[in-house]
Amino acid sequence: MELIKRIHAKVEQDKHITFDNYMDICLYYPDQGYYNNDQISLNPKNSDFVTAPEISSLYSESILHFYIKCKKNKNIENIIEFGAGSGEMAFNILKNINNNMLPKKYYILEKSYYLKKQQQIKINKLPKIKRSIVKWIDKIENIENVFLIANEVLDAIPSKIFKKQDDALFEKVITLKNNKLYFSKIPCNDFLSTKIKNIENRLGAPFSNNYSSEINITYDNWLSHIFKNISNFIFVIIDYGYSESEFYHQERNKGTIQYYKDHKKLISPLNSPGTFDISVSVDFSRINRIVQANNLKLIAYTTQSEFLIHNNILDNSTKIADTIEKQNILKTLLFPSDMGENFKMMIFCDNMNSEFQVTFKDYRHKL
Ligand SMILES: C[S@@+](CC[C@H](N)C(=O)[O-])C[C@H]1O[C@@H](n2cnc3c(N)ncnc32)[C@H](O)[C@@H]1O
Repeated sequence: MELIKRIHAKVEQDKHITFDNYMDICLYYPDQGYYNNDQISLNPKNSDFVTAPEISSLYSESILHFYIKCKKNKNIENIIEFGAGSGEMAFNILKNINNNMLPKKYYILEKSYYLKKQQQIKINKLPKIKRSIVKWIDKIENIENVFLIANEVLDAIPSKIFKKQDDALFEKVITLKNNKLYFSKIPCNDFLSTKIKNIENRLGAPFSNNYSSEINITYDNWLSHIFKNISNFIFVIIDYGYSESEFYHQERNKGTIQYYKDHKKLISPLNSPGTFDISVSVDFSRINRIVQANNLKLIAYTTQSEFLIHNNILDNSTKIADTIEKQNILKTLLFPSDMGENFKMMIFCDNMNSEFQVTFKDYRHKL
């Protein structure tokens, strides 16, 4: 059965489905979700959007550079990569790492069955000593001494959408009328209302009427579960996003959600579900509150360009002989109007040698 028909059937049965539920079905439904079907490609030659690891190996080599710095200050033995996409970052980290710096295990936790298959094919091209340490896992159980990385994963974790109307708070849902999907709204339940009112309180002003945005209520459980199962770790989250006051700025009154197909933004996500990407920017202040609630230490919140420049990307780029190619890569990864400032890096850990200093510009005060 086509995915749209399945959604129709579900909406008919439940009267409506909430937007986060719809996003989850569109992206991950077995064999038919956008990320979870045999046509999914993150290779820029035939993808719908481009992620930093796919632009150039230089990006993953800077992550490797930072991993080695961390290893010198902390007993790091393993790597866990979440949502590894085509496997490009894992492949390039392992290809470029010296054998004496190899982790004991490079774990990959991937939600998509089909991307996992692609990762396995790519990793199999590495020499045996490197490919043999890669292990795919479905959940994390007691892993210690670990460097964790989530590159553009949190933006793909389904979010709710809310709207203020007539001074009341509503949640966006999808309904069915005359055999067609429509957006509709239901009053927010107490849990969601409280979360949204807490944002208003922190911002010091209520949202205006017709203000709409997203809120991710699953980050908390997702991260807390991970924290319970790891020890002695350093975690790097990279994604497009903002601090809370930027994310919920009055002028950003239609939220941050984006639907992408063929490198173009789509306006309506209700036609052809499963054939386009859906993503929501990350509210990094929310991540920081979860970090603090779990008694972890936030080491840095900075921009992608700051992180890459302080992790050797410019020196490393001299190996690219083609000047135009090099300039294009560096522009895309570093320019503020491109990925350089739209993408942020958040780094936190449970404990760290007090001599460990990050050298990049720090924006923790914004959170
Ligand atoms: C936008 S892609 C990024 C892929 C890759 N990290 C990159 O930067 O090219 C999002 C990835 O996260 C995966 N993903 C989403 N939610 C996940 C979860 N809860 N656990 C593990 N992987 C997840 C998707 O299947 C996909 O591989």
